[in-house]
Amino acid sequence: MRKFLKANIAMAIMVTAVTAQAEDVEVLHWWTSGGEAAALNVLKDDLESQGIGWTDMPVAGGGGEQAMTVLRARVTAGNAPTAVQGLGFDIIDWAMQGSLANLNDVAASEDWDAVVPEALQQFAKVDGKWVSAPVNVHSTNWVWANKAVLDANNINVPSTWEEFTAALDKLKVAGITPIAHGGQPWQEVTVFDGVAMSVLGPDRYKAAFIDLDESVLGGDDMKAAFDRMAVIRSNVDDNFSGRDWNLATAMVINGEAGFQMMGDWAKGEFLNADKVPGKDFECFRFPGTTEQVIFNADQFMMFDQGGKVSAEQAALASAILSPSFQSAFNVVKGSVPARTDVSDEAFDACGKKGIADLAAAAKSGNLYGSVAHGHANPAAVKNAIYDVVTAHFNGEYDSATAVVELVDAVSIAK
Ligand code: BGC
Repeated sequence: MRKFLKANIAMAIMVTAVTAQAEDVEVLHWWTSGGEAAALNVLKDDLESQGIGWTDMPVAGGGGEQAMTVLRARVTAGNAPTAVQGLGFDIIDWAMQGSLANLNDVAASEDWDAVVPEALQQFAKVDGKWVSAPVNVHSTNWVWANKAVLDANNINVPSTWEEFTAALDKLKVAGITPIAHGGQPWQEVTVFDGVAMSVLGPDRYKAAFIDLDESVLGGDDMKAAFDRMAVIRSNVDDNFSGRDWNLATAMVINGEAGFQMMGDWAKGEFLNADKVPGKDFECFRFPGTTEQVIFNADQFMMFDQGGKVSAEQAALASAILSPSFQSAFNVVKGSVPARTDVSDEAFDACGKKGIADLAAAAKSGNLYGSVAHGHANPAAVKNAIYDVVTAHFNGEYDSATAVVELVDAVSIAK
């Protein structure tokens, strides 16, 4: 892993040195799967049409951990990229360190305050300054299913945990991998987001993961959530370890597996494979979380290049927030717009549902930040939760021990 990161960092610095030009934007991101690359092209093309060049700085790895490591090395070397994909508390951290440019001029002239949902502004504005441009809203409590596999096995879209486990049992008997999963900590915690919400409910999800209340982190419901994780573990194939998320999605796309629990970036993979929701695949909320939206929003942080926001940075920020881009990009990416005033007309059935769910959840107080994707806690606490969830998933300890470890790990990290 360390070797891989070092190679990545070296490559990052080399690529920049060779290709970056003053008038280009250099963009560091982790959108490397087929569906993600297709969405990124929408942004590249948009900028190109304005005469702005693009220097690509991809660093693979969902959740952005590797990308953040490369970023730290670049900033330490005094060579920050122009714009960097960022999530939640990472954005706040970079802003507090004084690394981000102030986008207030462009934000004011386009009235971002009025159209960007409040939940996102918490992570895009620090001390009254806009420091990043919100691209989308993703959410993690989704399940993706192969429709032909469901039909062939007489399975309806499950709406309770019991129906879900009954469906998993049927698939096992039929010799189909019930759940496609990639064994990487961020993927395990992405699954845990929905599982924990389904057992704890929204108030205790907040108490546990946002307020870090030890009685909930170490309580019986949390143990029950870990028990559900163990059931999920018993329904993945033998080769899950280390598998990339998009390869797990491919298993559902080609009928090798029935379900994947993953954020709605998975939809980008289905679309990229020309699959149609309702016909080839189904999207539904993890049973027990139909009213909740566990969100993460991709944003582009603009790194201070020595004082003022550059013309290219302002153009990039403005392009990202434009309603037409928000529609075109998010239709392809699987996410929903980061503005409240974009029509759902161009979106497919899953996208329309995503937009409606987000609006309803924001209104009813059911919108919560994703633990897995840095919208519940700063990196130290997030990583502590990663460690415990992954160790339990890999059978290092049982659920009763997991809750004790969770309380300990969080209290050390916070
Ligand atoms: C990002 C998504 C991305 C996913 C997998 C998440 O952290 O928010 O945009 O598609 O990781 O790479």
